Amino acid sequence: MLIALLPGDGIGPEVIAQAVRVLDAAGCGLTFETAPVGGAAYKAAGHPLPASTLDLARRADAILFGAVGDPECDALERHLRPEQAILGLRKELGLFANLRPVKLFADLADASTLRPDVARGIDMVIVRELNGDVYFGEKAMRTTPEGLREGYDVMSYDEGEVRRIAHSGFQTARARRGKLCSVDKANVLETSQLWRDVVIEVAADYPDVALSHMYVDNAAMQIVRDPAQFDVIVTGNLFGDILSDLASMCAGSIGMLPSAALDTSSKGLYEPIHGSAPDIAGQGKANPLATILSAAMMLRYSLDMAEAADRIEAAVAGALASGARTPDLGGAMDTAAMGDAVIAAL
Ligand code: NAD
Ligand code: IPM
Ligand code: MN
Repeated sequence: MLIALLPGDGIGPEVIAQAVRVLDAAGCGLTFETAPVGGAAYKAAGHPLPASTLDLARRADAILFGAVGDPECDALERHLRPEQAILGLRKELGLFANLRPVKLFADLADASTLRPDVARGIDMVIVRELNGDVYFGEKAMRTTPEGLREGYDVMSYDEGEVRRIAHSGFQTARARRGKLCSVDKANVLETSQLWRDVVIEVAADYPDVALSHMYVDNAAMQIVRDPAQFDVIVTGNLFGDILSDLASMCAGSIGMLPSAALDTSSKGLYEPIHGSAPDIAGQGKANPLATILSAAMMLRYSLDMAEAADRIEAAVAGALASGARTPDLGGAMDTAAMGDAVIAAL
């Protein structure tokens, strides 16, 4: 199995290094090929997603991605910015379904920003649409007739895009506790009214799944009020982005949340939900567990190695049970020491 390793910028290479150590220690027998992406690729090759990197991503059985983003690149034209690399990979490879599991490890109740009695029982998956929405609509800066600068970004979904992610949501719920909450802003947005209409149509295929609907502002409040009420949330690209960072703190840290970006084949891109964290890059402070858990998702969803995935997830739980904590979790362990702790538990 060929894995495309795309470490990227900031803490990306630091957390990817630990995930590779864990995959090797688990005896997965994978072949890795590394390519530059993001700001690192722009600086080396003049483009955040060089053709050779995209080619490797296409050839590989799965992609393990770190993070992109570099403050030195923030003034570039948008199409050259590091973030275009991850957007381009998701779009070019048709990876439309983003699974973001939010689970509170038993030993991390003290790291959650929620009271332990509220945090207990958080176990949900946010199914985020990844190929459409305001991310990919027409966008520009222009000047109004009055001479004012104006920025605009078109938000849209067509029914085909909604239908396929709705199926992902229902199937994810069916394989879990059978509850799906569709999150939208149908009280204001036409994009969301279509979303809601199509989700209701698709529900006819899943009589065994209990469907509910929630406005996104309420959903943000409910995730903090009582996260255990949620099993699976299905939502659009922008709302899913925001809600998953929010939910991560309920589970202890943004450094804990993995993700899988999938199409309808076994191909997938796996990455932590966090970014390149320029504020802590190069200091050994990054929590590698989100990336290690992303590697476990890769084994499960793309490589048919569920047993190894289970072992790695159990080793993460074991490391946390033994008291391993990076600074984001209230400890003092560095990134490599956390990798050591997982390998020791393995
Ligand atoms: P961020 O997720 O990089 O960081 C937010 C905060 O969380 C920071 O204080 C950071 O130190 C902390 N943090 C993040 N990951 C951590 C980890 N593993 N361990 C410990 N602490 C961690 O978000 P940001 O600061 O808004 O963005 C920084 C850059 O990353 C930007 O360029 C942004 O566009 C990019 N970004 C990329 C991705 C991606 O590659 N998929 C995702 C999000 C943000
Ligand atoms: C994420 C990130 C990306 C997104 C950015 C970097 C384009 O925030 O993966 O969550 O908004 O999807
Ligand atoms: Mn995000």
